[in-house]
Amino acid sequence: MDSPIKNIGLRGVVIASTKICDVDGANSRLLYRGYLIQDLAMETTFAEVAHLLLHDKMPDIHELVNFTNQLERNRTLPPNLICAMQTRPVTTPPMDILQACVALLAHHDDSLPENSLPLARNRAMGLIAKLPTVVAAWTRIRQRLEPIEPVPGLSMAENFFYMITGERPDRRIAELFDRALVLHAEHAFNASTFAAREVASTRAHMYAAVSAAIGSLSGELHGGANTRVMEMLKAIGTKENIKPFVEDKLEKGELVMGLGHAVYKNGDPRVEILRPMSKEVGERVGDTHWYEMTEELERVGKALFKEKKDLEIFPNVDFYSASLYHTMGLAHDLFTPVFAMSRVAGWCAHIIEEQFADEAHKPVLYRPESEYIGTYCGPEGCTLVPMDKR
Ligand SMILES: CC(C)(COP(=O)(O)OP(=O)(O)OC[C@H]1O[C@@H](n2cnc3c(N)ncnc32)[C@H](O)[C@@H]1OP(=O)(O)O)[C@@H](O)C(=O)NCCC(=O)NCCS
Repeated sequence: MDSPIKNIGLRGVVIASTKICDVDGANSRLLYRGYLIQDLAMETTFAEVAHLLLHDKMPDIHELVNFTNQLERNRTLPPNLICAMQTRPVTTPPMDILQACVALLAHHDDSLPENSLPLARNRAMGLIAKLPTVVAAWTRIRQRLEPIEPVPGLSMAENFFYMITGERPDRRIAELFDRALVLHAEHAFNASTFAAREVASTRAHMYAAVSAAIGSLSGELHGGANTRVMEMLKAIGTKENIKPFVEDKLEKGELVMGLGHAVYKNGDPRVEILRPMSKEVGERVGDTHWYEMTEELERVGKALFKEKKDLEIFPNVDFYSASLYHTMGLAHDLFTPVFAMSRVAGWCAHIIEEQFADEAHKPVLYRPESEYIGTYCGPEGCTLVPMDKR
């Protein structure tokens, strides 16, 4: 059946109001609670940004110390969760482990099913604190190594590398990793946040909403793109291969990962911050090959999209994250879990807004309509043929 409805994937459809984030695609501007991403990335830490998102306030020094201490106290995983991970096949993708572990964490929350703003903020803090521990523990368990406990006194970034390798990372690498977490923490009604809000709108608990969001983030058109960018760079190998690679993709109508964005049509502001970070880390570890490949792919990709499709295309947040995380020494399938470790702050802020917004802005249960284009045999429905006659 022909349909006049074009599948637009909700592009441009405003479905709720939010005080958390403004993605201004036309002007390449990103605001978290009114603050420009450039200022947050260069002048604050991930802990400050997580506080801003959850409490709608930049923390003063006392609030920050308190918030950081609470994160520190929440990093350790219940022993049962580690045992559950140890029973999983070592080939299980880390995003699937993360999604399952968030669902399992609900079983360890004695305060469920009660919900209140303080309880929701505590749960959010628990998730922000524990996701890096889950990712690091799985990284070791799948190598048949014992997980390493988080240590007090280290930042979230330092702890993450420490729990993977057993060694404290270079201070500057940890600072830049923290900045990457700031850049990924929030992005309005993207696919995974929408998933979280949709689940929260049914009044399901925060763990259900966050695990749905992790499932959504795992797809290659969303958070999974950063891993796919690295696989693509590896497959291309050298700068000389970039032009034929992009030409081939365009000819076959296939995607060049890390390019394009559903909202930013004039450039993603996070790229301008990530590009020099990727360069700096490459120089620091003595391997700028992947940074240079990414830069060349940006240049050649832009020119070829213009020439062959008459389209201005720009890199998105995943493009330079790939070479950045690779040169930081992270396994490629950890790139998307790292994205989740940061975005969980945004998801939780949205879940809280969904469930505790003031009356004037309270969202309602999401329930869109669809247009039926399947079989139609008339108002009586199709004749049901008995099993022996089908
Ligand atoms: C992110 C994405 C889904 C946005 O898609 P979108 O909103 O449909 O983008 P546009 O409307 O601007 O696309 C315009 C055209 O460019 C094409 N295009 C966009 N990004 C492309 C890419 N990375 N590679 C090849 N073609 C691309 C589209 O297919 C479309 O072609 P068409 O007009 O022939 O149908 C898309 O750019 C994409 O798939 N990028 C690669 C995956 C990725 O990096 N995802 C992470 C996003 S943060």
